[in-house]
Amino acid sequence: MTQPDKISWDEALSTGESSLDNQHKVLIAIFNDLAGMIESSPSRDSVAKILLALKHYAEWHFSCEEDCMEKYSCPIAGNNKKAHAIFTQRLENYEREFASAGSVREFALHVHNDLARWIYVHILEVDTKLYHSIHSTPFPKDVGQK
Ligand SMILES: [Fe+2]
Repeated sequence: MTQPDKISWDEALSTGESSLDNQHKVLIAIFNDLAGMIESSPSRDSVAKILLALKHYAEWHFSCEEDCMEKYSCPIAGNNKKAHAIFTQRLENYEREFASAGSVREFALHVHNDLARWIYVHILEVDTKLYHSIHSTPFPKDVGQK
């Protein structure tokens, strides 16, 4: 079985709003905690707890970020909101599937590979575009689809 890749935050992920960057760092830390667990045969309980923490934190963070994009009239605010709904739906599906998952470790690895990659690409390709709205710099044309 392959090992999960941990994510590190760097300036390429900056949104221009430090409170959101700090929230992204916490989300990344939750995924890295999950990755750490996967490396050492996690219990069902520990994975369930981390999925719950992820759900609650992501829900709160998405709401803060959506408010911030509205505040700065960010052109991709609508797409960002739709993307968040997709993440939430995927996480809820995983929560349901978890009850009947055979191997906790394999299940956790699958969830990590899918959602950690999703959040990284989403921050990089969508959330960072907020920078242009906050700092009034020209907005790139081909953004907001992820
Ligand atoms: Fe976002």
